[in-house]
Amino acid sequence: MSEIFASAPGKFVILGEHAVVYGKPAIALAINRRFYLSVRRDDEFRINGEIVNIRANPHLMHIAGMNDMIPVSIHMDSRIPTGSGLGSSAALSVAFSAAMRALNGKSVSEEEIAKEAFEAEYFSQGGGSPMDTSASAHGRGIAVNMQERDTDKLWDISKNSHSWNISGIDAPPMKFVVGYTGIRAATGPLVEKVRKYKDSNRFAADIIDEIGQITKEGMTALGSNDVTKLGELMTEDHKLLSILGVSSNELNKLVSASLPYSYGAKLTGAGGGGSMVALTDQPDKVCDAIRSRGGMPFAVKTGADGVRVSGKNE
Ligand code: PMV
Repeated sequence: MSEIFASAPGKFVILGEHAVVYGKPAIALAINRRFYLSVRRDDEFRINGEIVNIRANPHLMHIAGMNDMIPVSIHMDSRIPTGSGLGSSAALSVAFSAAMRALNGKSVSEEEIAKEAFEAEYFSQGGGSPMDTSASAHGRGIAVNMQERDTDKLWDISKNSHSWNISGIDAPPMKFVVGYTGIRAATGPLVEKVRKYKDSNRFAADIIDEIGQITKEGMTALGSNDVTKLGELMTEDHKLLSILGVSSNELNKLVSASLPYSYGAKLTGAGGGGSMVALTDQPDKVCDAIRSRGGMPFAVKTGADGVRVSGKNE
């Protein structure tokens, strides 16, 4: 019997989350924490041996729907905490899309997987950008809407009135520490909160423009390996995201605790809880500082491979 194995990495956002939903630029790096799964044909949908109603999981349901609703038994194992701002649902969607496409004999190109997984994310979250799914499918690093730069163009994605061009980047080696608050926060409601604020208040729209500007400067800093400047921009971005209302006391505590030993620090992903990330050359000190304020630190390695798929479809 045929079984397909797939895995996809989580990511963190150096700069640009939330603003990217409105077509502003963003930079995200894949990390060495992955979502692993396998699928094999079955008579009902099963997850880790239990029969499930696939409709209860909108990401899986949407991808199954794009793959003829073939019932499969799924085994999954994630090393990316759920709701942590590290792209766990994107990695799940990318890995499941890769496995289902392989099972169906369809192309498993990074681009097609990124696009299919984005549809599932968009449907499940009620909005969002293709940043997470593109970062997870491609791996290493991606820049969004930064076409004029010296980057490796990957693909374009449009949805409703927004469009995003995705390019691959090879970020120079840098040390990052992620601090997880331990508080799960779903992305959809936070994206919706920012949308409502933006639609009702010109000031919020200006903040989103400013995040876009900072992100462009960050791309220049990244290109010249200027970690001091990049760190400053990350801290500035955290302040702007706080004004947008997506930070939290826990995130602010972990960011403040990290700053004395970091070039900069900010929340990463949707916010609300989830995680922050610090750019540092003293990772042990940052880990201690995060731990002392009740957070869960982990040093992350960047440069992770994108989606991997293997196995036989007989
Ligand atoms: O928290 P995560 O890992 O789901 O990241 C969300 C990133 C946002 O920019 C807030 C939303 C999006 O779809 O780009």
